[in-house]
Amino acid sequence: MIRTIEWTDDGVVMIDQRLLPTEEVYNTYRSVEEVAEAIETMVIRGAPAIGVAAAMGIALGVANLASKENVEENFAAIALRIQKTRPTARNLFWAIERMEKVFQKVQDRSLEEIQSAMTTEAVTIHREDIEINRKIGEHGQQLLSDKMTLLTHCNAGALATAGYGTALGVVRAAVENGKKIQVFANETRPFLQGSRLTAWEMMKEDIPCTLITDNMAGYFMQLNQIQVVVVGADRIARNGDVANKIGTYTVAVLAREHQIPFYVAAPLSTIDLDTPTGEGIPIEQRNIQEVTEIKGQVIAPASVSVANPAFDVTPNRLVSAIITEKGVATDPYGESIPALFEK
Ligand code: MRU
Repeated sequence: MIRTIEWTDDGVVMIDQRLLPTEEVYNTYRSVEEVAEAIETMVIRGAPAIGVAAAMGIALGVANLASKENVEENFAAIALRIQKTRPTARNLFWAIERMEKVFQKVQDRSLEEIQSAMTTEAVTIHREDIEINRKIGEHGQQLLSDKMTLLTHCNAGALATAGYGTALGVVRAAVENGKKIQVFANETRPFLQGSRLTAWEMMKEDIPCTLITDNMAGYFMQLNQIQVVVVGADRIARNGDVANKIGTYTVAVLAREHQIPFYVAAPLSTIDLDTPTGEGIPIEQRNIQEVTEIKGQVIAPASVSVANPAFDVTPNRLVSAIITEKGVATDPYGESIPALFEK
């Protein structure tokens, strides 16, 4: 299995996703600051993986405390540093909240006990994420038939999670069930998660994959060469509006025009019941150099105005179903999504 992130006695080990697919480099991160910078600079990315990194970053920060003096203030500062890294993925805030709950329970105990409880919780979040993705895969694969060609956008694979993936978990589960699935991977400008990461994951496992640029999806839909779309999510509002990598909305509109099902695969930790609609989801604006340069090579005039929103929101009416570990939600999402949390 592809190793994305791991807790070790030495620190948090992560594969540097910025170097893929040409270099597979694992580095060890030993402080909350180092983990926070790794999240900000996209060493690790993808909503569930960011959640795991957040939890491990907090556990590291607490593990590095030398004494119990001001432990509450120190914990708050550690959590705040992680909270400021990236704004859109709900999993980041969900993981912080889980760590906070455990901290509140154990804060009156010895420093060693607090540190141990924090580490245990972070490692549990990691382990559970893989189990959750397998369940998402099992529910999702039932929606796919043999010999389907599936389009995905960005990377919602093992690299975007603790392992196995959400959208690519659905692909993996279908393949494990004997279905011959072909994947079309949108390259996903500007950060190229599709070409660098999704294509790499599929090649590693010999799952047939065709890489296309983002503007080719409509062409292949018109030719009836794509039968289904499966993507991940960074945050899902209570009404089923879905924030995911920029360009996802375009794919959803194309899918609707071509009457192709558009599925979103995500854990409950991506769903934000406190945000009623997609309008309330904060959209990260990233460095414009991601658009104007490729590996340091300038590809745009110096003075041109540039925008770089990292995510867009697909309205619920374009979403055929949301596949979670607790089952599949369909319209009306305002009812089916809260019901998943009761299961
Ligand atoms: O900017 P990124 O690479 O963190 O964005 C990732 C995505 O948009 C993924 O599709 C999403 O997080 C789902 S990952 C299972």
